[in-house]
Amino acid sequence: MNREKRIPVIAGNWKMNCDRVKAKELICQLKETITNPVCGVVLCVPFTDLETAVELTKNTCLKVGAQNCHWAASGAFTGEISAGMLAEMGVEYVVLGHSERRQYFGETDETVNQRLRAALDAGLKPILCVGEVLSQREQGVTEEVVRQQVKIALGGVTKEEMENIIIAYEPVWAIGTGKTATAQQAEEVCGQIRGAVAQLYGQETAQALVVQYGGSMKPENAKELLSMENVDGGLIGGAALKAADFTAITEAANQ
Ligand code: PGA
Repeated sequence: MNREKRIPVIAGNWKMNCDRVKAKELICQLKETITNPVCGVVLCVPFTDLETAVELTKNTCLKVGAQNCHWAASGAFTGEISAGMLAEMGVEYVVLGHSERRQYFGETDETVNQRLRAALDAGLKPILCVGEVLSQREQGVTEEVVRQQVKIALGGVTKEEMENIIIAYEPVWAIGTGKTATAQQAEEVCGQIRGAVAQLYGQETAQALVVQYGGSMKPENAKELLSMENVDGGLIGGAALKAADFTAITEAANQ
């Protein structure tokens, strides 16, 4: 398989934005504007919007994702949501290991791995986020950092299960900052991620893997980023909250 055969996926990461009224409004707009995409389109919404999103996107090309899940099936984990609970309500994807979870909520490569295992066991498709912080880039250790994040997160994952995983390269310094990685920087690290997966699972699996770029992707830079050989889509934060911008990015991915 090569680039031509991979179907790009554009996922919106709404983060902690949009109450139910706003969510409904935004999804209804997106249903009008994104009708026949070549790429996959996923809306990763807050837990409280999942039911609305699942309901409103039935029989459309829009898929729904959550932004985290716990590793246990159930139990005394106050405030947490299990992968099974998400799957049961019709959620298809889950973002795992986002840098904001690593930064503010003590997420580690090991807990990301546990959550990823649970997500796969429940039949969810994880969007695994990896990426370096600015000091790591400046020290020239981006490849090592990302490779380690990928390897630990994928511990215990089989070759077959890799078909259900997306990896998002999100340089932490580019998230919500307006500073986008250049297309060359994104290409380089997305290629290294594919290389790490090739080492673990072989070329065929690596070539089939969807590797997204995330970090201040917007209509103005989407086309260039998405034209890169190893960039198969995007994980979009801020621009996912505006119907016109998110739609434009999906259109850039269709070209
Ligand atoms: P951003 O966020 O597009 O607002 O930079 C991306 C993300 O955090 O997934």
